[in-house]
Amino acid sequence: MSATSESSDEGNDPDNPDVRRLADWPPERLESLAEEHGTPLYVIDLGRVRENYQRFASAFPNADVHFAAKANTSRAVLRTLEAEGSSVECASAGETERAFAAGFEGEHVHYTAVNPPAEDLDRAVELADEHPGLTITVGAEDTIDRLAERGYDGRLCLRVNPGVGAGHHEKVRTGADAKFGVPYDSAAELLETAADEFAVVGIHAHAGSGISGDDLSNHRELVSRMCKLARDIDLSLEFVDVGGGFGVPYHPDESPLDLDSVAEATREALGDLDATLVVEPGRYLVADAGVLLTRVNTVKETAEITVLGVDAGMTTLARPALYDAYHHVRNLAGDAPEIETTIAGPICESSDTFGEHTIANPDRDDVLAIGNAGAYGYEMASQYNSRPRPAVVVVDGDRSAVVNRRETLGDVTATEAEVVWQ
Ligand code: LLP
Repeated sequence: MSATSESSDEGNDPDNPDVRRLADWPPERLESLAEEHGTPLYVIDLGRVRENYQRFASAFPNADVHFAAKANTSRAVLRTLEAEGSSVECASAGETERAFAAGFEGEHVHYTAVNPPAEDLDRAVELADEHPGLTITVGAEDTIDRLAERGYDGRLCLRVNPGVGAGHHEKVRTGADAKFGVPYDSAAELLETAADEFAVVGIHAHAGSGISGDDLSNHRELVSRMCKLARDIDLSLEFVDVGGGFGVPYHPDESPLDLDSVAEATREALGDLDATLVVEPGRYLVADAGVLLTRVNTVKETAEITVLGVDAGMTTLARPALYDAYHHVRNLAGDAPEIETTIAGPICESSDTFGEHTIANPDRDDVLAIGNAGAYGYEMASQYNSRPRPAVVVVDGDRSAVVNRRETLGDVTATEAEVVWQ
């Protein structure tokens, strides 16, 4: 899907701009996809995923780029990134299986185990057998013991709590949260002990989601702490993984991340490290490659504001309800005049709102596009209020394909059984 002439970020490489704004998506094409497939509908542009990968990888030419699959596990997206040369970081055995199903080779897959249920470790150990090269990243001594109990002696990476957190919301600042990684001060000893039983290949840390121009100091700090650790231990590591969290502009007046400065800051903090740098972008690769289309069903004037009722809700895109996240919204049908609205979904909860937006001349049946929905959108959708999950369409140039059909009520109730007492 090509950008329209009203592209709002001039000065970029016109073939691969730093950001694709909502205004850059061709409205007629989106309208016709909504017409053909119904709403709510996620549209993911694989061409833009490719551009994002290429731009990111060229900013970090000597690093291994591992896509954080949790942002978007669509097979179509995973295949696209695999074909570009990306590796992948998976948060569960399920994601790891999906990465292999999409064609990634073992050596390009890292599984990051966070308090892993027994079944996850069982499956991860099997997968490591089937796909030599798989790396398992652990964040607790317990997890190391549980892997040893399962006879695993393969590639191991230790997740360290770097003590520095960053993020767009307190709920996504992992770096200083005791839940993630082993305490920094105990890491060296743990690594050296683990090396007796496993192939210790790397160390890992993730500060959280939201590296932006303002918090490069956190990023620098994390990278230099990880490098200090790598130098302090008596092991030669293949890689130092500094996680993801590369921010994207959700507001139309926010500037895109200056990747070159981030890469430069990373290089400076790395110094003369003799190991490969690994970076794990999630949203950076997919957020602006996706929009969510939703149809207006209610226009309600009130004394305070006009309420626009739409068919997508917190079950379709959870980020606004969960993190007060801002997603820009545009009326594909509307022209001036613009009015102040609050946009709300069909879920019976007051948190089911996309916030206040200035919308052009909204009318019942208009289709609204919600921007930056390619990351943590469909991925976090739920069936609350017995709302079937939406469909997902991928586009690539002029082509389009449904990659997730719209769920039915039958899908919502598929696992339910009559009570049969035992
Ligand atoms: N690496 C690790 C180990 C992670 O835990 C994450 C995200 C990433 C990489 C990728 O972070 P990103 O580059 O996408 O910011 N649902 C939240 C984000 C939770 C992220 C959890 N971990 C949201 O919608 O903002």
